[in-house]
Amino acid sequence: MKLELKGITKRFGTFTANDSIDLVVEPGKVHALLGENGAGKSTLMNVLFGLYVADEGEVLLDGKPADFDGPGDAMAAGIGMVHQHFMLVPPFTVAENVMLGHEQVKGAAKLLDLEAARAKVKEISDRFKFDVDPDAVIEDLPVGAQQRVEIIKALSRDAKILILDEPTAVLTPQETDELLSIVKDLRDAGTAVVLITHKLREVQAVADTITVIRRGKVVGTAEPTASQAELASLMVGRDVSMTVDKDEAKPGKVMLTVDDLSVVDEEGIARLKHVSFNVRAGEILAIAGVQGNGQTELAEALLGVVPTTAGTAMLDGEIITDKPIKDVLHSGMGFVPEDRTEDGLVASFTIANNLILDLHDKAPYAKGMALQPKVIAEEAEKHVEQFDVRTTSIEATASSLSGGNQQKVVLARELSRPLKLLIASQPTRGLDVGSIEFVHKRIIAERDGGAAVIIVSSELDEVLALADRIAVMYHGEIVGIVPPDTDRDTLGLMMAGAHEEEAA
Ligand SMILES: Nc1ncnc2c1ncn2[C@@H]1O[C@H](COP(=O)(O)OP(=O)(O)OP(=O)(O)O)[C@@H](O)[C@H]1O
Ligand SMILES: [Mg+2]
Repeated sequence: MKLELKGITKRFGTFTANDSIDLVVEPGKVHALLGENGAGKSTLMNVLFGLYVADEGEVLLDGKPADFDGPGDAMAAGIGMVHQHFMLVPPFTVAENVMLGHEQVKGAAKLLDLEAARAKVKEISDRFKFDVDPDAVIEDLPVGAQQRVEIIKALSRDAKILILDEPTAVLTPQETDELLSIVKDLRDAGTAVVLITHKLREVQAVADTITVIRRGKVVGTAEPTASQAELASLMVGRDVSMTVDKDEAKPGKVMLTVDDLSVVDEEGIARLKHVSFNVRAGEILAIAGVQGNGQTELAEALLGVVPTTAGTAMLDGEIITDKPIKDVLHSGMGFVPEDRTEDGLVASFTIANNLILDLHDKAPYAKGMALQPKVIAEEAEKHVEQFDVRTTSIEATASSLSGGNQQKVVLARELSRPLKLLIASQPTRGLDVGSIEFVHKRIIAERDGGAAVIIVSSELDEVLALADRIAVMYHGEIVGIVPPDTDRDTLGLMMAGAHEEEAA
């Protein structure tokens, strides 16, 4: 089915998120939609999917105007969408979520439907090597698994038009490759695909057509043969450095000592097994590994969100493993969680208030019991400016921000106070290339200012760009700590469980 968007304009109040956008997506083609954070990509796709009503313009399917009253109509018309912010119902199972939105059925037929949905989940999950249990409850699943459910849901309907809004943001490299190969198969079978991604390698791998939008307007198109540098500069309107400049680290005193730290989860499974390491002031230790090998548990155990079963962590000479989270943060730890929407932000709070989440009762934001609105606002304006958070107002809610801009708010908060230790998990997830460049510079500045830094990243490029030392995790253990010039093959072997000596 051919999809045409003609003159789509979408406003939020006085802000124009989509400004007269034209887009044609041909059947049997992958159309990549690129643009910086807040450019209006998700908004445009939400209009197309019937979630928003456009103020102007129309959507044509095979030349005929489509008048969607909601996502149900869009699905009935053959459109499937993988949402950037998942639209799953947390207390429902995977199969129930996949079934939702299919036409209503009653009584015995409903049970049959659930059986069919379970079978479908199983089938697609096997095909992708996704390992998703149809009966798992969504809210118990980590983000990566939820992303896989979104994809399964969209694919379960044999859509003629498939919209993928950053489908790979939380997938492992292997899962990403599987997904891209399925996208190619669907395209070859005649599906029209819209792909939104900040990973230019993916664009180069599958796109047939590329459209770039900036500040709500189409600013150009590019050939699939375009280089990453060309795509990047078209997106952000300036040249972007794809490499990170940094001086040799000058490590100082040991800032963090982790000794024999262990975590056992609620089901009694060991997630972190006797991990010991140090991080010095002025150095970046990157934790590499396939997601799900204990990195999350390590970061969360250091902050104190998950209980430890053995071992200690000491920050600047003080044991932190027995302290409340709030005290750990106040003793000089900055923490960027891997799931910004769950753990990093309060969606219904304003941007200004999200920027002072753990600090609202501290000077200069409070004097005694009294909040200092003027100071809070001034600080917020400063952060929004520095981190280029695209918003109409610091009083807007975090939920109104685009995905990448939400991430920038979390980073702005955590990187703007004096830190002894920064722990950042997937710090640039969902950010556009220009913002990644900026955030990498800020993290290095943090190091050079004397903080100890731990970066947890499943992007090997990011690990190699930032790290002064690389710790590789596998099955809850650190299998080795190696220098940053270690080759990718060795790291790959270590990520698959080989110890340092075997891998080298
Ligand atoms: N419900 C809303 N209310 C107010 N403003 C909104 C709302 N939804 C989006 N916006 C604004 O519209 C702009 C475009 O947002 P959109 O989510 O489409 O960006 P995006 O291109 O998908 O960015 P990202 O790459 O970060 O996901 C943003 O500046 C955002 O703040
Ligand atoms: Mg988006």
